[in-house]
Amino acid sequence: MSDANQYGYHAYKLGGFNFTRDEYFAHLAWPGGSHTMPVDAFLRALMRDISWNFFYGTVNFDTVFGTTNHYGTVDVFAGLYNAGYRNQNKHYVETLKGDDVRALFAAMLADWTNEGFDPFAAPAETGSAFGPKRGSNPDAINRKRMVASRMTGMKGDIPLRSDAAGNPVNRQFTDVPQDEPEVHAEPGFENEVHAFNFFAYVSRSDVTWNPSVCSAVKDSQVCATTEEFILPIIHGNDRVEWFVQLSDEIHWDIQDRETGAPRARAVMKAGDVAAMPADIRHQGYSPKRSMLLVWENNDSTLPEKYATGKLKANPVDF
Ligand code: PHB
Ligand code: FE
Repeated sequence: MSDANQYGYHAYKLGGFNFTRDEYFAHLAWPGGSHTMPVDAFLRALMRDISWNFFYGTVNFDTVFGTTNHYGTVDVFAGLYNAGYRNQNKHYVETLKGDDVRALFAAMLADWTNEGFDPFAAPAETGSAFGPKRGSNPDAINRKRMVASRMTGMKGDIPLRSDAAGNPVNRQFTDVPQDEPEVHAEPGFENEVHAFNFFAYVSRSDVTWNPSVCSAVKDSQVCATTEEFILPIIHGNDRVEWFVQLSDEIHWDIQDRETGAPRARAVMKAGDVAAMPADIRHQGYSPKRSMLLVWENNDSTLPEKYATGKLKANPVDF
């Protein structure tokens, strides 16, 4: 590792890419080009790229830099999905082992995240990412997902979020009723039958833009998330994904996945359902904290089926 720079941060090298940070910015460089991002936005995107293991398809940190997941290897790119870069043949891509990219990204995130800054938190609920190096925040960046073996809240499994468990209702969800359903199980089935208030459960989430699998049946993954401010990545889909807006509203910019050309704006209000096509990129804006259900199809044969035209990019024609 390099010596720390005058601001206290180390430089990182990944193939031909170089990453440095100063008080305000992440600076990226590669053979033939360079790029600058506000460091708070860079760290929020980096946090998600690592914890989602490069997600489905493309994680654009912004309109220039990002990763495309090939589920084992990863394309790390600059300008690959940017019409201006492509037209001038200025794009740059390296295909690297996912494990190597994740390890380097994790080291960079740990070094560049200051005490008090939580890349998963809403801007109004975290300290600043800026300034010279000031401590670290391992608790925020090393969150571990809890894996349930039965329905959440059932005896012997992970507990429901509650005040007692240190999960207070979020400041923007104080209007969400916290009452729990009554369950009247037949004698002998008390340990088999269960129900809980899912809105109350989600209202206690302390992270934003971080879908958590809440049911997995074969390849069907239903993921709840609480959203506030901007989705820190521009997601390029390699399959269709469905959104169910559970509360409040999110405004989506939807663009062509390859070029970024605008395709649609969708303002989703509570109860709205949308299928995001397999050939788009999108970024959401949540003016106040909202609840979103993201339904993903984890079938690993899908990217190839869309790429070769075996499946249409949109699942429904109206
Ligand atoms: C998405 O890219 O589809 C996405 C990612 C994170 C979220 C919500 C949606 O929290
Ligand atoms: Fe998406």
